[in-house]
Amino acid sequence: MATKRIYLDNAATTWPKPPAVYEAVEAYQRNLGCSPGRSTYRDAMEADRVVAEARRAVARCLGLSDPHRIVFGFNGTDVLNMAIRGVVRPGDHVITTAADHNSVLRPLRFYEEYHHVQVDRIPCDPRGFVILEELEKALRPETRLVAVNHASNVVGTLQPLEEIVKLVRRHCEAIILVDAAQSLGHLPLFPKELGIDLLAAPGHKGLLGPMGTGVLYLAPRIEERLVPLRMGGTGSRSDEDRQPDFLPDKFEPGNHNAPGLAGLVEGIRYLEARTLEEIRQHEIALTAQLIAGLKEVPGVTLYGPPSAEQRVGVVSLNIEGYSPEEVAGILDLHYGIQVRSGIHCAPLMHRTLGTVERGGAVRFSFSPFTTREEIDAAIQAVTEIARHS
Ligand SMILES: Cc1ncc(COP(=O)(O)O)c(C=O)c1O
Repeated sequence: MATKRIYLDNAATTWPKPPAVYEAVEAYQRNLGCSPGRSTYRDAMEADRVVAEARRAVARCLGLSDPHRIVFGFNGTDVLNMAIRGVVRPGDHVITTAADHNSVLRPLRFYEEYHHVQVDRIPCDPRGFVILEELEKALRPETRLVAVNHASNVVGTLQPLEEIVKLVRRHCEAIILVDAAQSLGHLPLFPKELGIDLLAAPGHKGLLGPMGTGVLYLAPRIEERLVPLRMGGTGSRSDEDRQPDFLPDKFEPGNHNAPGLAGLVEGIRYLEARTLEEIRQHEIALTAQLIAGLKEVPGVTLYGPPSAEQRVGVVSLNIEGYSPEEVAGILDLHYGIQVRSGIHCAPLMHRTLGTVERGGAVRFSFSPFTTREEIDAAIQAVTEIARHS
């Protein structure tokens, strides 16, 4: 039985966080503990400052000068729902892709089944890249929304966002939503420069914040067209029973996860100190190391692009003779290596890979804290398991 923990499930949520993240969460809970945006006593004003600081930190990370373009939610799923359910109307035409996660696919399936929304799901090639010719064929002048995944949570494939945005804009004025759950915090990403309308991401993955945090970027042209998913008390315009129409209050009713946002500030500060460029190089090196170490191992099938530059630090594989669940169980029990097996909430990507029938795949995912030694341990473990099959 292994005792040392090797955590390679960072695509689910990153761990560990920088120490300052834990400290900030605790300090908020212990010393401040009050509601932001509601009261004027000094500690409440300090709580306001924490939320404002988190907004500024996320804006900086996305290369934005106006922090009010950032809206907070509670995880990636929450902010994706805010985006999708905020713009889609009965009878609309919407496009998504086979690389997308159930947090996008399921709300769209719901609209398709109950609100006559037509959804085109653009296929991916076997490496996980969206087939751009198919996207082009699907675009219509009246397309309301194009929702695309930036980096696959199964195979790490990075979609060519610039090309996708240009392609969409050549054909229509559709709202472009990017699910950056697996890319934000792992590499530099500037939605305004790319011409993206909505960008959604959790705060607890690449941004290194605590669970219970999510961020949504809204381009100015989209603000008025987005209907709030949740409505309620904001602490502003409290004399009115109508939801405020200004940012960020329009989309942020109810109490924030303020301790989580205090932690998120520190997660982003860590990224800034180390720089996203350096983190990107670190994760490319780890990905290349794992691929190189396993690609020739008999019985091991690796999925996704062969080049580490074309993906984030996410690598999925199968071992002949074992189900993904068995591999994950052996890795945990015998090697202390924690990975995620199964379909990873991405049924269309697993259909693309042809892995649904065998129960999905085994996913290894990295963070800025993953080391070369941990990757060596993973290579050795997979090689040993494959040898015994
Ligand atoms: C691509 C992608 N989108 C959305 C989500 C949902 O994020 P959350 O778990 O924060 O709700 C995930 C989570 O794994 C993801 O990988």
